[in-house]
Amino acid sequence: MSEFAAVDVIRAKRDGRRLSDAQIDWVVDAYTRGMVADEQMSALAMAILLRGMDPGEIARWTAAMIASGERLDLSSVTRPTADKHSTGGVGDKITLPLTPLVAACGAAVPQLSGRGLGHTGGTLDKLESIPGWRPTLSNDAFLRQLQDVGAVICAAGAGLAPADRKLYALRDVTGTVEAIPLIASSIMSKKIAEGTGALVLDVKVGAGAFMKELDAARELASTMVRLGKDSGVETVALLTDMNTPLGFAVGNAVEVAESLEVLAGGGPADVVELTLALAREMLAAARIDADPAQVLASGAAMDSWRRMIRAQGGDPDATLPAAAETEVLRASGAGVVTEVEAYGIGVAAWRLGAGRARKEDPVSFGAGVQLKVKPGDRVNAGDVLLELRTDDASRIPAALAEASAAVVIGEKGPTPTKLVLDRIA
Ligand code: URA
Repeated sequence: MSEFAAVDVIRAKRDGRRLSDAQIDWVVDAYTRGMVADEQMSALAMAILLRGMDPGEIARWTAAMIASGERLDLSSVTRPTADKHSTGGVGDKITLPLTPLVAACGAAVPQLSGRGLGHTGGTLDKLESIPGWRPTLSNDAFLRQLQDVGAVICAAGAGLAPADRKLYALRDVTGTVEAIPLIASSIMSKKIAEGTGALVLDVKVGAGAFMKELDAARELASTMVRLGKDSGVETVALLTDMNTPLGFAVGNAVEVAESLEVLAGGGPADVVELTLALAREMLAAARIDADPAQVLASGAAMDSWRRMIRAQGGDPDATLPAAAETEVLRASGAGVVTEVEAYGIGVAAWRLGAGRARKEDPVSFGAGVQLKVKPGDRVNAGDVLLELRTDDASRIPAALAEASAAVVIGEKGPTPTKLVLDRIA
C-alpha cells in the first residue's frame, strides 16, 4: 500500500489546494520510480500550471527533485565556483565565450549543458561541431578539469535530478512547459545538485523566449533567485531581451565561429556586452575581484578556451564544418530594418537542419542563418539581409519563408531597446 493515491494529489491541486510536504515528496519519488503513471503526472502538471504553487510548495518540489538523484561534491575544487544558466534564446552562444573568460578571471565554471530542442539551440550541439570534442565526462574527469582548467562545459550525467529528466520530457508533450513553479524547480534542482557556489541566471524575455512578457519573466527570476539563496547558492538573475537574435550567427558551427571572434577581442557588440555583464555578475557572486573586459582583451580567455576544448578531445585549430548549400535573402526595397524577429530566425535555422524536432534527431553542424543586418540598419533594394546555410537544398524554401517574414523593413528606425532589462538579487 502506498502512502497516497495519485488521484487524490491531482484532485487537491485541481481544486486549488496546497500540497503537503509529504504529498510532494511522495509523488515526485513515486513518479521517478514508475509508480505514478505518466497520465497522472500529466494531469498534475496541468493542475500546477493552472492553479500555481506557493513558495513553500515550490521549495519542497525542488528539494524532492534534487533528492531523486545524486548531488555533486565540488569541495575538492580550490577555486570559487560560479555557473550561469540561460532560459534559452536564439543565437544565444554566450556560454561559449563566458565560461573560459570567467575561468581566466580565477573562478571554476561547472557548466552542465543540454541539447537544443525546437527553435532554440543547445550548447552541446554547438560544441560538437568542433572536430574531436566530447560532451561526456566521468565525475572524476569533470572534477580534475574543473580544478586544472577552471572551465568545463559537458553533458549533465543521468544521475543528476532524474525526476526532472522524466518530468521535462512529459511537460514537453503535454503543454505544461510554461508553468513557472515547474520551470523554476526544473532549472534550480539541476543547478543546486550540480554543487555550484554561485549562480547567475539569464532569464530571456521576448518573442524568441518562452517568457514573452516582462512580468512573467520577473516572477520566474524571483522564484529561482529565492530557491537558490534558500539552498545556500549565491544567486542573481538578469532579465535580458530576446526579441532579436543575439549576434549575427544562429546555428552550430557558425555560433562557435562568432564566439571565437569575441574571444579574439572582436565580435558583435551585443554578444560582448552580455558576456561581460554576466561575467561581472558571476565574479561578484563568487567574490573574485577581476575586470573581465581587461582579461578578455589580454587574450587569457582565448588561452583558457583552447585548454578547455583540448581537455575534452577537441582540436581548437581544426576547420569548422561548413554547409554544402547557401541561399541569400535580399531586401525588396530601400528603408530601415525595424525588426529581426528572433522566433522566426530560430525556426528558419531549425528548418535548415541546425536544430532537431525530436530529441533523437541528429543536427547538421554547418546549417544555420548568418544575419547581415540588425534592427536600425539602413538597406537598399537588393542588399543581402541574411544568408541561409544547409546540407540539404530541399530545406531552403521553408526556411526562406520563415526568414523573410522575420525581417521587417520600414521607413522609420525602431526605438532602441536595452539588452539588460532588469536585475533581480
Ligand atoms: N529549462 C529547463 O531546464 N527546465 C525547464 O523547465 C525549462 C527550461
